[in-house]
Amino acid sequence: MRIGILGATGAVGRQMMECLEEQKIISDDLILLASPRSEGKVLPFAGKELMVHAVNEAWLEGLDYVLGAVDADTSRKWAPAIRNSGAVYIDNSSAFRLEEDIPLVVPEINGADALNHHGIIANPNCSTIITLMAIAPIHQISPIRKVIASTYQAVSGAGMHGIDELEQEVKDIAEGKAVKPSVFPAQIAYNCIPWIGSEKEAGYTSEELKMRNEGRKILHNPEMKVTCTCVRVPVFRSHSISVSVECEQPVSAEAAAEAISQFEGDVYLKDGYPMPLDTSGQDKVYVGRLRPDMVFDGGLSLFCCGDQIRKGAAANAVQILAYLLKH
Ligand code: A2P
Repeated sequence: MRIGILGATGAVGRQMMECLEEQKIISDDLILLASPRSEGKVLPFAGKELMVHAVNEAWLEGLDYVLGAVDADTSRKWAPAIRNSGAVYIDNSSAFRLEEDIPLVVPEINGADALNHHGIIANPNCSTIITLMAIAPIHQISPIRKVIASTYQAVSGAGMHGIDELEQEVKDIAEGKAVKPSVFPAQIAYNCIPWIGSEKEAGYTSEELKMRNEGRKILHNPEMKVTCTCVRVPVFRSHSISVSVECEQPVSAEAAAEAISQFEGDVYLKDGYPMPLDTSGQDKVYVGRLRPDMVFDGGLSLFCCGDQIRKGAAANAVQILAYLLKH
């Protein structure tokens, strides 16, 4: 089996390599691809040193699967060549997520959708994956009608440059220097920024609408109403989300706690609370602060937290690959 990673040098691409090793999907010939800037770089994998290549058609030839960890434009540019090479493309970008004939998959929730692919499978948005992992078990008790979500998103969601910017700003502030934001629209050190993505309909951002549009597709729940506010916080890793839901029938906190505890990939915290420092570096989504909602009659409120580079991106993509291999 030959696997390629497009965007291998980025935060998600590097994590994909680790996840492949952890999930014991050892490709005989892992091909690392990135931009021409990275040609000749060397990255460790399974005890070997692998060379990174500038992506081109020749490097795609003969691949069985390609994991994509590049931005949407780069993904759109290379998807046709990947398809032509005969490989299945598991894409982490937003390029194809809402296209009708392209499955959008969180394996624990709608893994079977992955089997209906036509060469491309999309990996959902990071906050959407983590939120849905928390509320899918509730949706299985009674279909969710309404969701109100507020996210607390780590800087690594913006890639390596996001991590660098927070580190640099903290250093600059300590040294009394002026802060010059470039990745984020304002200073992120010692601050929160209630704006992620680009402006879309009715004052909502692209990131906020992903929660609604992708959430509906993954849960097969096209009428679900979702309102979401996305906030960037000065945390390096792991996104957190405060969520309130209303279902068709009232769901008790006890029944929801039981369902979340049983749900593969979730850890239910009866005591203590989900926090980014605890969820980073592993694949489980932590769910806690579960309680009856005070606005939605019979509804629930909770807080969830997960490593968005792992379960929110790389680990989920590698799990999709594992699901395809298994089925
Ligand atoms: P490179 O390191 O060569 O720029 P992140 O989101 O962490 O910044 O990572 C983005 C990933 O996408 C990197 O691996 C980056 O490679 C890759 N990438 C960016 N632009 C291109 C491009 N035009 N062609 C191929 N890969 C690209």
